[in-house]
Amino acid sequence: MTLEDEPDWTDRDKAYSVQVQQHMERILAADLLVVVFPIYWQSTPALLKGWIDRVWNYGFAYGRSDPRLAGKRVLWVGLAGATAEDPIVAPMADLLEAQLSEGIAYYCGFAKSAVAVLPDAEDQPQSVDELGNLVVGEAPAGEELASQHRAFDRRVLAAVDEFAA
Ligand SMILES: Cc1cc2nc3c(=O)[nH]c(=O)nc-3n(C[C@H](O)[C@H](O)[C@H](O)COP(=O)(O)O)c2cc1C
Repeated sequence: MTLEDEPDWTDRDKAYSVQVQQHMERILAADLLVVVFPIYWQSTPALLKGWIDRVWNYGFAYGRSDPRLAGKRVLWVGLAGATAEDPIVAPMADLLEAQLSEGIAYYCGFAKSAVAVLPDAEDQPQSVDELGNLVVGEAPAGEELASQHRAFDRRVLAAVDEFAA
């Protein structure tokens, strides 16, 4: 957060920094936002949190009876290092849904918001055993790895298509 982008509670039409205004214009121009991020500690990385704090600002994203973002849709695509079989994935998705959809998007007037958690984002499969140890498996190599990456890309696109439909 910078002083220039601090909310001014007495002025909801405050002109924020040029950088932030450019991001606001990009959001206003879109009907559907897709926010892709690596999941850090069952949450967003600090960089994404800072983007929300600065860009989804007072007078733009909230603080008006007629919200600027009303009617838009947002899909949050969270990439998870956990494997699909890991029981942490479902509660992690619930946490992100509460934080991002309920706590932020609906508060800002979005018509639709959802979180898609995509596990197996790491080349090496990762899980935590019953003793709490991180277990890191072998990554495939060569064409097998390239094919794994292509399959992951298809999963992302399928999540976007399903949300947009
Ligand atoms: C600080 C940090 C925290 C992380 N926390 C989680 C987590 O809570 N759950 C999870 O499944 N993966 C977690 N990961 C793994 C990342 O989600 C994974 O590395 C990332 O999605 C891979 O994408 P990238 O190669 O683009 O970084 C974490 C990684 C880092 C560096």
